[in-house]
Amino acid sequence: MTNPDPVRCERRGKVAILTIDRPEKKNALSLEVVRCFHNLLVDLEVDQELGGVILRGEGENFVAGADIGQLKARDVGDALGAINGGLFHRIEKLPVPVIASIDGYALGGGCELALACDLRVATERAILGQPEVGLGIIPGAGATYRLPRLVGMGRAKDLIFTGRLVPAEEAHAMGLVDRVVPAHKLEEETSALMEGILKQGSTAIRLAKLALNAQGGTSEASLAIEALAQGILFESDDKHARMGRFLERKKTRES
Ligand code: COA
Repeated sequence: MTNPDPVRCERRGKVAILTIDRPEKKNALSLEVVRCFHNLLVDLEVDQELGGVILRGEGENFVAGADIGQLKARDVGDALGAINGGLFHRIEKLPVPVIASIDGYALGGGCELALACDLRVATERAILGQPEVGLGIIPGAGATYRLPRLVGMGRAKDLIFTGRLVPAEEAHAMGLVDRVVPAHKLEEETSALMEGILKQGSTAIRLAKLALNAQGGTSEASLAIEALAQGILFESDDKHARMGRFLERKKTRES
């Protein structure tokens, strides 16, 4: 039986905990996940009692990227529609702090989702990266804009050009994650960070986020260039060949 709600929302006091619930696919972002996320945001965006949001993945992974099976079929129109990027922009604009709670893989769109959050707590076994160029595309959901702002242009180019995956400690050293904690303490440490924020003046926190995002938030021009570049790549032979090879792996392993 398929799960009708691939994103769950649980309320604990002033905090909403959103869990992407597709562990059998390492929480890959399908269109269904994106739609479900959008539906949940409608209420959260206008909730005056909300103090913060925690994003996590079910099981032992955050998110292993956009769903490659669906991505292979996407064209230039989909790129311009910014399916994942539009969602991440909306998450970034939530009026309260959003913390990504990261275990296991945060790759591709998963890493970009974490980038759109305000803070990132990762376990010692977490692995982050932007491997898109290996699939013949670019990180098209905000990383070309947000990653250099977080880790610096040199490191962003290193990560995006090589597609290499970085363990949590290295991600911490470059500023890609804010805290590294033992896996069994992820929930506790993420909640403690959120509690520390909730003790502050709630209007002050909302306005601090507004002011900081006005400096480092999204730029329409940068995201438009990213979408145009992705649109070209979505229709390339190279992308179809590379994604086809990823999807063929399963059949090869089964035979
Ligand atoms: N899209 C669709 N399915 C994905 C996925 C993705 N981004 N990431 C993982 N999955 C699926 C796998 O296809 C597999 O499905 P199956 O059991 O039906 O074959 C399942 O999740 C488990 O993944 P698997 O590859 O068997 O686990 P692993 O431990 O060997 O490898 C990863 C884990 C994350 C290294 C590997 O799955 C991977 O490279 N995923 C793609 C990462 C990526 O390029 N993301 C960016 C996309 S833009």
